Amino acid sequence: MAHVIIGVTGGVAAYKSGEIVRLFVKAGDDVTPLLTKGAERFIGTRTLEALARRPAPDDLYPHLADADLLLIAPLSANTLAKLATGIADNVLTQLALAFPGPIVAAPAMNTRMWEHAATQHNVELLVGRGVRLVGPAVGELAEGEVGAGRMSEPSEIVDVCRSVLGRSVDDEWRGRSVLVTAGGTREALDSVRYFGNRSSGRMGYAVAAEAARRGATVTVIAANVSLPPPPGVEVVEVASAAELAEETFARERADLIVMAAAVADYRPSSPGQQKKKKDDAAWTVTLERTEDVLMELGRRRRPGQVLVGFAADEGEPGLAAAREKRQRKNVNLIAFNDVSRNDVGFDVDENELVLIGPEGETHVRKRSKEDCAVAILDCVAPLLAPS
Ligand code: CTP
Repeated sequence: MAHVIIGVTGGVAAYKSGEIVRLFVKAGDDVTPLLTKGAERFIGTRTLEALARRPAPDDLYPHLADADLLLIAPLSANTLAKLATGIADNVLTQLALAFPGPIVAAPAMNTRMWEHAATQHNVELLVGRGVRLVGPAVGELAEGEVGAGRMSEPSEIVDVCRSVLGRSVDDEWRGRSVLVTAGGTREALDSVRYFGNRSSGRMGYAVAAEAARRGATVTVIAANVSLPPPPGVEVVEVASAAELAEETFARERADLIVMAAAVADYRPSSPGQQKKKKDDAAWTVTLERTEDVLMELGRRRRPGQVLVGFAADEGEPGLAAAREKRQRKNVNLIAFNDVSRNDVGFDVDENELVLIGPEGETHVRKRSKEDCAVAILDCVAPLLAPS
């Protein structure tokens, strides 16, 4: 049985919050409803109190310490913006700032409000801080328009809450040291130009956030990542493959190392110290190999340590090469992604992976990078040495 605080904000979808409360109560969970003034224009406090089978509390403080999860459904554009910036001007937003546990929220608003750059920026901030968003779904909206903005169905919202509750801090992970590399390195050509790649760092950050949420002590070596740091994670910024190698080897004793960064395989062998002036001649650059960090970590791997590498390659031949790479680099798990597709992988929100481990392969079908991170750590968990 879990104790869930359900915050309801103003919007037509507020009427669906009754169904959410009913689903939790039916499963034997304890529900504390909390409506904003705006929500009361759409659904009565009494209705939710009756469905929750308890009155809305006068004093929320005891619930703050006691609740396992805060769900906000629907989440209006206004409250979303307040949460993103830390404004605490009503009981719900105060609670969200003070609540130490996981937060799930189901946005619901007009399509154009959802798509507005301000809202999308706020969404990025919240997700980066570990708030789990469900939806919005695409469909017909209250104003008769069609688009993204509808609140997800109550059953889907409750399912996501269940999975978040089921994955609260885990004894298996508590106190483990986890090192994740993320992003893409840049190799200087001269003082202003570089060779780089398209990796955004989202996959690595998702793995780091998930490991921290499970209770591990997490450091990310971030190569040129412009995302908000995952909550509770130490971030060490690097630029080049050489810097990444140095910072990684300095922490090579971690219980788990996940090499999610796209590390350059080559760098210009003699980068200019100043900006090269253009002239009419072609510019020929000689590239030299960088150190293969994963290979070296595999060579040095101590008993009980788990190493995860990524392989970006194309189709079946790529998958076969990834299997071979797992053996050759002496790593426990290789996460293969097929870069011949442009709907998953580099610089997009979703990924699809084949996890190649010692006991076989798991196909992780297309899903958010956060959910891919869950699948990766679920595969790693049985490989960790007993603590
Ligand atoms: N990696 C590394 N150091 C490098 C290059 C890559 O540690 N200098 C790591 C990456 O973080 C990733 C994995 O190695 O985990 C990718 O392996 P790599 O052999 O570079 O694979 P691909 O570039 O995908 O393939 P190929 O071997 O065909 O170049």
